[in-house]
Amino acid sequence: MPRKLAAGNWKMNGLRANLKELETLAQRHSDASVDILICLPTTLITTCQDTLFDIGGQDCHTAESGAYTGDISAPMLSDAGATYVITGHSERRADHGETDQIVAAKSAAANAAGLTAIICVGETLDQREAGTTLDIIEGQLAGSIPDGATADNTVIAYEPVWAIGTGKVPTLEQIAEVHAHIRAKLQARFSDGADMSILYGGSVKGSNAADIFAVPHVDGALVGGASLKADDFSPIISAL
Ligand code: G3H
Repeated sequence: MPRKLAAGNWKMNGLRANLKELETLAQRHSDASVDILICLPTTLITTCQDTLFDIGGQDCHTAESGAYTGDISAPMLSDAGATYVITGHSERRADHGETDQIVAAKSAAANAAGLTAIICVGETLDQREAGTTLDIIEGQLAGSIPDGATADNTVIAYEPVWAIGTGKVPTLEQIAEVHAHIRAKLQARFSDGADMSILYGGSVKGSNAADIFAVPHVDGALVGGASLKADDFSPIISAL
């Protein structure tokens, strides 16, 4: 069975003072039956390693170490207390030119360091309107997931680019179509593809989470803006 995962992505938000939100979350969800993950800015990871939650990074380099000013490696994230890392987020693909090949290499590096990679895929609005969504997703899956992926070390996040931070959400039918397609491709390529978790991401909030989680093959969410405040993230966790 895929694990149920409520994952927050703080992106480039959060100072130490904001960690009080996690204390509030921990008080409310100490008996949670689902996995809760917070992907923090690197500066906050070490501070948080004793919390109730799993902690993740938001990106890693393909190399273990070296002359890569400003980058962070997967072993460094692991050493700081992280157990997950996001790879191939559309903001990294768009703003930093990350290709499927780079995403696959980063995901493999994450796995080699003992981290679970949350590999993001998703179509742009132009691609959606052109009717190529499933082809785009299929290509990203084929190119971005390393051969050594397993249900233990890999999670897939479907994030339509046009739904991120916009308040726009695909219809439940559109989410169902893409998640079923992802599941079929995972099962065709990996022996434990039926057990790999598939998250939905893009404008998830308390008011729409339960409906999205009821869609087949939606095993949780990757939440941006609504993960920053305990009052916003808490109902999403409860809905899972
Ligand atoms: O990683 C999270 C996604 O980009 C979704 O962000 O919940 O702010 O739309 P959002």
